Amino acid sequence: MKTITVQLIIISLVVFFISCNQNPQSKQQQDSVSQLTDSLLQDYKQKGRVVTKSSFQALSSALLSAIESEGVPHALQFCNIKAIPLTDSLANAYQVDVSRVSIKNRNDVNKADSLDLVFLELMQQNLILHKKTSDTIVMIADGALTYMSPIIIAPPCLQCHGIPEVDIKLENLQLISTLYPNDKATGYQLGELRGMWKIRFKN
Ligand code: HEC
Repeated sequence: MKTITVQLIIISLVVFFISCNQNPQSKQQQDSVSQLTDSLLQDYKQKGRVVTKSSFQALSSALLSAIESEGVPHALQFCNIKAIPLTDSLANAYQVDVSRVSIKNRNDVNKADSLDLVFLELMQQNLILHKKTSDTIVMIADGALTYMSPIIIAPPCLQCHGIPEVDIKLENLQLISTLYPNDKATGYQLGELRGMWKIRFKN
């Protein structure tokens, strides 16, 4: 029943998975999709993977070295992708916008919108039902292709996103709530879905 609800939401938002040809499509959608061959879509997916992987690696290494050298309070600024120059240069090289969104966001700018919620929900269901989830490429109503990929909680994430006062030290918790008064991004456990990467192609 939940799956049906999700599908209905997808259709009503005029969004569809490129790979799913059974969904009703408008003439305009059919035209733009017909121009996208499988190999072109794979190409975009591959680009999305490269940008995501590099951004994740840059972010993780900045985070880990900051934690190691000056501790968690100093490292708090490094979970912001805008704090990592590499993300900008990659975004320019590939002509994409890079962002991360979450249902339980820390920074207000990373709040999932109604469309993001649909895909996050699908990823969450896959994770629960099949113990794994995957990346996807979708076409938004304005015709832009967007690559989406799940972000899963790993051990180093817990000290800032885990259970308060168990994984997150009180002093760090206080700092987080000073910096982000509306923080919702705690209470996570290993392997849970934290959010997703969004790589939006500008052309
Ligand atoms: C040192 C503390 C710290 C660690 C460790 C950390 N984060 Fe974060 N995380 C933050 C902060 C601070 C933000 C808000 C960044 C901003 O202002 O954009 C954030 C934001 C995020 C966001 C964007 C959505 C949101 O809630 O605003 C995601 C996704 C995320 N973190 C995932 C992870 C994952 C996955 C890991 C482990 C690989 C991790 N974080 C480790 C502190 C941390």
